[in-house]
Amino acid sequence: MIGGGQLARMSAAPAAALGIDFAVLATSEGESAAQVVRRVVLGDHDDPQALARLAANSDIVTFDHEHVPPPMLEQLLDRGVLVRPGPDALRHAQDKWHMRQTLSQMGAPVPAWARVDHPGEVSAFAEDNGWPLVLKISRGGYDGRGVWVVENETQVETLMRQTPLVDAAVWLVEEYLPFEMEISAQVARSPHGQAVAYPVVRTVQVEGMCAEVVAPAPGLDPDLALEATDLALRIAQELDVVGMLAVELFVVSGRIVVNELAMRPHNSGHWSIEGAVTSQFENHLRAVLDWPLGDPRTIAPHTVMVNVIGPDHPIPPLHEAFRHVMARDPGLHVHLYGKSVRPRRKLGHVTVVGDDLDDVLDRAHHGADYLMGVIDE
Ligand SMILES: Nc1ncnc2c1ncn2[C@@H]1O[C@H](COP(=O)(O)OP(=O)(O)OP(=O)(O)O)[C@@H](O)[C@H]1O
Ligand SMILES: [Mg+2]
Repeated sequence: MIGGGQLARMSAAPAAALGIDFAVLATSEGESAAQVVRRVVLGDHDDPQALARLAANSDIVTFDHEHVPPPMLEQLLDRGVLVRPGPDALRHAQDKWHMRQTLSQMGAPVPAWARVDHPGEVSAFAEDNGWPLVLKISRGGYDGRGVWVVENETQVETLMRQTPLVDAAVWLVEEYLPFEMEISAQVARSPHGQAVAYPVVRTVQVEGMCAEVVAPAPGLDPDLALEATDLALRIAQELDVVGMLAVELFVVSGRIVVNELAMRPHNSGHWSIEGAVTSQFENHLRAVLDWPLGDPRTIAPHTVMVNVIGPDHPIPPLHEAFRHVMARDPGLHVHLYGKSVRPRRKLGHVTVVGDDLDDVLDRAHHGADYLMGVIDE
């Protein structure tokens, strides 16, 4: 797996269970996955020699992030390495411009959007779509970095002037959607074409960053859930995705609109470790290895996952909170990613599975809030 972050770390457990000799390409011994995986290749994801070192002893190469330049993946393919998902599919998760073009061509529901080079073009777009608008950099963003809600042309001018574009990135403008809910439809797809769909979940983003996931999405119209699932399966097939695909969507005015795609395990699927028969991490491995996929269904009526995100204020080491949260709630599942605490950094998550949604929500938030030092009892 290219990338040594928390997604690789959480993939290590099912890899161990399935007897997969799992290796990661990490930038340092201290990186999240490198702490728990025996075979670590040290190097950068955009260093061809590091990629070659990882590939030399691997049957299949897959990803915990989407940042490897496609030409480097083409080089691996040319040398007979199996790269899954392949670079043609992955481009759609790397570049929001490419993603919007393909989805528009497919007839998938997307926000009104345009590629823009100058603030004047944003204002022209605003004449049709009104303010506010959403400005995005097409590549390299994550957790809301690279996404801005803008109210007027002055803001656009300042933003475009002060934000350098790197690596073939372009500016995109989108209509601002006053959504009722954000949802995610996740599917796993294998090279021989088998696919399974997880229940559609509700996600809550705070400052552009995933904070809470509820599976299945409470109150979501079953017809819209089915439409989102069908769409995710169709995107997986038409883009030839192998592994996990997450389709992030908005529910707005009773319809669904695609926000973006991820082709790897995704934060909206962490709940599946305890809440589904087969987790997204296991199904990603099964899919890229072309093994039969596992059952994606839930094991209980409700599962809630809440992220533990680095607060702005200093907090004691996270393990010091364990005695309290574990004693208070023996049903709480805690996951830490082995990262040092920094503001706005994803440090871990908690999950609670149960029959009563309000109870499960309360307990998950209590656990995460206590770990983040937001509450002290
Ligand atoms: N057109 C839009 N209208 C309203 N809100 C939006 C729009 N586009 C994005 N957002 C909000 O900003 C959040 C982040 O946007 P987006 O998913 O494009 O960014 P990202 O940084 O690539 O995220 P990720 O961490 O998922 O890769 C969304 O989850 C949503 O809450
Ligand atoms: Mg997103």
